[in-house]
Amino acid sequence: MVIKKVRVERLKPGIFIHDFDQGWLEIPFMRRSLMLTDDKMITKILEHGIHEVYIDTSKGDDISDAPTAEEAKAMTEKAVLDISGTEPAKVEESSFVQEIKRAGGIRKEAQTVITNTMESIRNGKQIDHRVVDKVVDDLVDSIFNNSSALLCLNQIRDRDAYTFQHSVSVCTLMTTFCKAMKFKKDLTKQVAVGALLHDLGKMFIPKEILNKPSKLTPSEFDVMKSHVLLARNAFKNYDGISSSAENVIMQHHEKFDGSGYPHKLKGAEISNIGLMGAIVDVYDALTANRCYHDGMSPTEALQKIYEWSTYHFKRDFVEHFIRTLGVYPTGTIVTLSSGFVAVVVETSTKGSTRPKVRVVFNSKSKTPVSPHIDVDLSDDNNIPIYGVIKNSELPGTWNIDAIGLLTKNIPVAV
Ligand SMILES: [Fe+2]
Repeated sequence: MVIKKVRVERLKPGIFIHDFDQGWLEIPFMRRSLMLTDDKMITKILEHGIHEVYIDTSKGDDISDAPTAEEAKAMTEKAVLDISGTEPAKVEESSFVQEIKRAGGIRKEAQTVITNTMESIRNGKQIDHRVVDKVVDDLVDSIFNNSSALLCLNQIRDRDAYTFQHSVSVCTLMTTFCKAMKFKKDLTKQVAVGALLHDLGKMFIPKEILNKPSKLTPSEFDVMKSHVLLARNAFKNYDGISSSAENVIMQHHEKFDGSGYPHKLKGAEISNIGLMGAIVDVYDALTANRCYHDGMSPTEALQKIYEWSTYHFKRDFVEHFIRTLGVYPTGTIVTLSSGFVAVVVETSTKGSTRPKVRVVFNSKSKTPVSPHIDVDLSDDNNIPIYGVIKNSELPGTWNIDAIGLLTKNIPVAV
């Protein structure tokens, strides 16, 4: 089986589509793999804003000069590493350990606020903006103190509370993005309100559609899409929603090439805040655990977004987002070339591809490393013993409690 990546314009009947390269997002057919039998199918793919797909040349015709899936993946991996690799560690106002103590409470409170707010909206009641503003103030302050604390808590995901946790995660990520883009704190707070409330319209979507474990039919997908305009209606009852907040809510599903919704806005028709919201929304959707699939690792999700940025997102903003998070954000579990397994503690001054890590497990001997060892991978002397990062793993891999390991008072440093 040879899988290749090709542009949709190059497809012809007789080619077998192996995958639409849309993650778990919308695809125009009920099946992910199919034989192309006529040109209409190709038009349908393009109309859905899909520009590249994977084909299986063992089941259909070949396009001889197209790159294999491995070659395409290697190019993306290299590009993402190059973008994030040289970004030095940010100077934070407080340490991770100090901030994580507050961050846990803020995250919990934000989740309670969004749950109650969505419930109020569903029942036609007013949104209590003082409660929303208070929790957003605390959340933004925490990110401005040390963004790694709340960001790494985004890894804790309960499959049954997706919409609420997604709202808080998007708010956290968007605030971090605003901070990195040097937005003033006041503007960041306005954007953060929009990010927290961005999917509020989903409260009007029937639960069978919202939580459907399989692919939505085209008419179900139309209902799902209506959550954006339904949110706008709900805001008629909300005094003082800023235009920045409204941009996140109204534009987080618009795509740079005009293939998004609800208004099919294109390029500069979408506000910068809307363009940022679209990146953050998809990143969080890709990394979250849902009832029907596990999320991707942060590294894989950034690679996917970079790949899709050719059409769906503003490339500069995607690059900025990759630099903001780094390919190995705090709390990421990584396997080192030596066989050791570690948790990323913080990015180093030499860039995010060589962070400081906490070594906790030896995958060769299948034994825990006790006590844990803190290793700075930017120090060349450590490489012969510990190696370099080989790949990142999903949260939960090796049964490692990354957050617990980062918050306890620690170990031997080398
Ligand atoms: Fe949405």
